[in-house]
Amino acid sequence: MPSTPPSRPVDRPLPTSSRLILGCMGMGSDWNGGAVTESHIAQAHAALEAALEIGITLFDHADIYKRGTAEQCFGELLRRQASLRDSILLQSKCGIRFADDSGPARYDLSGAYIVSAAEASLRRLGVEHLDILLLHRPDPLMEPHEIAEAFSRLRSAGKVRFFGVSNMQAGQMRWLQQALDAPLVANQLEMSLAKLDWLDHDSSFNDAQNATALPWADTLQYCQQQGIQLQAWSPLAQGAFSGAKSDSASPAQQATAKLVLSMAEQYAVSAESIVLAWLLRHPAGIQAVIGSTNPDRIRACAAATTIQMSREDWYRLYLSARGQALP
Ligand SMILES: NC(=O)c1ccc[n+]([C@@H]2O[C@H](COP(=O)([O-])OP(=O)(O)OC[C@H]3O[C@@H](n4cnc5c(N)ncnc54)[C@H](OP(=O)(O)O)[C@@H]3O)[C@@H](O)[C@H]2O)c1
Repeated sequence: MPSTPPSRPVDRPLPTSSRLILGCMGMGSDWNGGAVTESHIAQAHAALEAALEIGITLFDHADIYKRGTAEQCFGELLRRQASLRDSILLQSKCGIRFADDSGPARYDLSGAYIVSAAEASLRRLGVEHLDILLLHRPDPLMEPHEIAEAFSRLRSAGKVRFFGVSNMQAGQMRWLQQALDAPLVANQLEMSLAKLDWLDHDSSFNDAQNATALPWADTLQYCQQQGIQLQAWSPLAQGAFSGAKSDSASPAQQATAKLVLSMAEQYAVSAESIVLAWLLRHPAGIQAVIGSTNPDRIRACAAATTIQMSREDWYRLYLSARGQALP
């Protein structure tokens, strides 16, 4: 029988030496699943090399990225450089399905689908095992004991070492964890200067004027207490504060982008590194899943791990992006 999870989990693949993860959603062909060409492979190779250069060891995939072609493309890199597999960690996700002959676009965390999706990822990547498999999004029809059985099958077959979740809140994780015989190791969530609800929730609690039913509840605290690694997706906010052109930027976003630039000068680093250093400054020990495929931009992220942002600068950025004073 599965037991209560230990409060200090043991044997984890994380933390890796780097606080940065390379998100591979931009690799591969396109969202129609077109053919992977040499030019896609060359682009992915350049991104991979830049990531390795700055000390990244964990690569984040999902079965759906570019309809499987991101994994396929990465698999080609692994085939061409056989020694690579042993020096990196591979993470993928499952549970989101495109519309197909059997149904509409949907979530599927049934046991059978988890196993078949993980096996398909292994085939595309051309590897024996994944280091981490995340459940991509909560499925309203998920049943913890069925998921536990799928995890056990994959682990005992040597196909997946560790399991985690994405886009789940603490209540869902607790519910799932009580059925599992090993601790969840990671939760990947959207967190950035453009997506502040994970912080606003804490600040607005017991503030009548800003009373909102935010769903974060104790997710940050639960993950920290249980030693579950928090991973931030879209941490660069797709360049919203570091030079990407946008006609729809709010006044707060425009002001924050200016502030980021001035801090980049002050700390003598890139704007990307300031945006990420702000996330990494949070005591939860967040890892940032950067999604760039541009080698120069990947390298520009490196200094985020070496600077220590002051408390005052952290609040300057938070307040600017928030666009209003704290309660
Ligand atoms: N768990 C989930 O539900 C979930 C959801 C979404 C994503 N993810 C993961 O998170 C990773 C990162 O997500 P993301 O790619 O959305 O976020 P991101 O890291 O915030 O942004 C990267 C994207 O923004 C572009 N960009 C960044 N700075 C720019 C600038 N100054 N000017 C122009 N373009 C700029 C990049 O283009 P270049 O390639 O040209 O640099 C790239 O397309 C993904 O790869 C994936 O692994 C997970």
